[in-house]
Amino acid sequence: MNSAIAKSRIHELSALLHTYNQEYYMLDTPSVSDFEFDMLLEELISLEKSHPEFMLPDSPSQRVGGTITKNFPTVTHNYPMLSLGNTYSKEELSEFDRRLKEFSQDEIEYVCELKYDGAAISLTYENGILTKGVTRGDGVRGDDVTANVKTIHSIPLKLHGNFLNEFEIRGEIIMPHSSFERLNNERIARGEEPFANPRNAASGSLKLQDASMVAKRKLDCFLYFLLSDNLPFKTHSESIINTKKWGFKAPEQLKLCKGIEEVWEFILQWDTARHNLPYDIDGVVIKVNSYEIQKTAGFTAKSPRWAIAYKFKAERVATKLINLSFQLGRTGIVTPVANLEPVQLAGTVVKRATLHNADVIASLDLHHNDTVFVEKGGEIIPKIVGVDLEKRDALEVPYKFIENCPECGTKLNRKEGESAFMCPNENNCPPQIKGKLEHFISRKAMNVDSLGEGKVEVLFDKKLVTNVADFYNLTYESLIGLEKIIPALDEKPERRISFREKTVENILKALDESKKIPFNRVLFALGIKNVGETIASKIARHFGNIDKIMQAQVFDFVEIEDVGEQIAYSVIDFFLDLNNIVIINRLKSAGLQMEVVENESDKLSENLLGKSFVVSGVFSISRDEIKNMITAHGGKFTGSVSSKTDYLLAGDNMGPEKRKKAENLKVLIISEDEFYEMIK
Ligand code: IVH
Repeated sequence: MNSAIAKSRIHELSALLHTYNQEYYMLDTPSVSDFEFDMLLEELISLEKSHPEFMLPDSPSQRVGGTITKNFPTVTHNYPMLSLGNTYSKEELSEFDRRLKEFSQDEIEYVCELKYDGAAISLTYENGILTKGVTRGDGVRGDDVTANVKTIHSIPLKLHGNFLNEFEIRGEIIMPHSSFERLNNERIARGEEPFANPRNAASGSLKLQDASMVAKRKLDCFLYFLLSDNLPFKTHSESIINTKKWGFKAPEQLKLCKGIEEVWEFILQWDTARHNLPYDIDGVVIKVNSYEIQKTAGFTAKSPRWAIAYKFKAERVATKLINLSFQLGRTGIVTPVANLEPVQLAGTVVKRATLHNADVIASLDLHHNDTVFVEKGGEIIPKIVGVDLEKRDALEVPYKFIENCPECGTKLNRKEGESAFMCPNENNCPPQIKGKLEHFISRKAMNVDSLGEGKVEVLFDKKLVTNVADFYNLTYESLIGLEKIIPALDEKPERRISFREKTVENILKALDESKKIPFNRVLFALGIKNVGETIASKIARHFGNIDKIMQAQVFDFVEIEDVGEQIAYSVIDFFLDLNNIVIINRLKSAGLQMEVVENESDKLSENLLGKSFVVSGVFSISRDEIKNMITAHGGKFTGSVSSKTDYLLAGDNMGPEKRKKAENLKVLIISEDEFYEMIK
């Protein structure tokens, strides 16, 4: 295709896809099928790849993300991003109204909006094109997350109508409940920690390095605050009406109120109705409508005097405590759970509340048959916040924490200074064995992802795998046809786990592939207490193979950066257990990597041979990549500057203390570019 045709087709496709996006996301009236849309988008992406010079700054291809941002640049806000004062009662609200009346003779007109519970964002538009998206940060400076923001469909890349040439618009990026649930289910299935609430999920998503991952998170955005040096509008509501015409998604439940009584009605209405919204709100924002009054009222150091937030109280109900149950987690920690008489709270029926640990039970002084107060704030799991003492019978006795493991009966212990009770029977207690097996096959360890949680459970129940070495004895015949039905529990439906031909082939293939996984990950996969991914890598690199680790003493371990006595004893204890030695020998015979293998990229040159480096600050690539480069060129990487350090590799924002120490010890301070010169 010649250039002129490519250019015109890129323009044509961009315009078409903009229209289809608008129809789908803003108007809810799609005129083409998803398939047709995807085909056009694919065509555009491929044309843009071969003719990047014609890619439009508002290209719809940016919605799917293709940008990787290693470090988000810090940007100073043109107008500081202030917060709002909070109120919790009608009295405080009336006080706010009374103060404002000093600036106006008449009843004040307010705009009430919902207070979206997400991550604040400031967007800049120049000549109708989105040019920047910056997080709130500390209010003065935020992170430039433009590429990520561009993947959010409700944020227009290009405006239409009679827009202002230059302005900023602020709003809240939120994660709707549907996206949140899907994301957390996926995270749980991958063995990752779920997000505590949609707010954390939204702000976490904005900081993802890969914009295409952000696109998958299905975020949404409401824009509620227009800023420009010369706003042509007289009121906030007029601004909102116009921003809608330009293509923004403005607050949907916006109400113009004459006086504080009408504001109060709006608040009462939404304190109840919020539970039916498809996203979280945590209050109502009340803004003076007239820009003139806003200007006279002005700002305090932290917030505008012309706006305030009314925060909803976390909903609280009283219910009867049926009993406590104690759950053993996969890491051996026992968590107490309160079983409650089912009660309606914040839109859901609550039957259980976590109590975290023995200290919480003690501080609440929970007695049998107590009536307890349960609260649900921004978090998903409700908590007990107190006991209704008036309802307690004087004869009732306090609850005690159990003394033995609820699964295997072993006496629980509690380390000094720690609040958790643990079951010490880590090699024979079923949930702990399953936990170890799941950890072994997890993505960051041996990466046998075809063996998800449910399947490991089946293998354990059928006694086919009772320790990690047993995985490598599995055969096609032993696996094919295995099946288990996991009954429905609470909201989760019944699940059938079955080992069919394709699944079995995939499992065996992945197990075979795992034999190539480098030694540092094998060491991590063993699940030695206190030995995470990074520590496992450091130990592996330091000793070189499993035999040396097995023979090492405490003083050998503490030589390693970030390794202290606690880790040293964990590793030594692990290898003192004969069961573990047998497992290691079986894994060795199965062919797993038990020593560090110097591969090609490990030995790029000997330019840095014998030189020791300390790395500090932010670089154009990640610190881990820098460290790998140092070792790949024969150098050594250490944690702190000493007289033995040869170079301090200084990135942006390096701590002044490190620099001072290096200068005092006459250690050479080099930049990232100078470092690249050395390894050229
Ligand atoms: S107006 C200068 N309107 O609440 C005032 N803020 O606690 C600009 N928020 O930082 C803010 N919904 O992140 C405004 N409808 C709404 C809002 C809202 C949520 C957030 C915003 C702000 C925080 C203040």
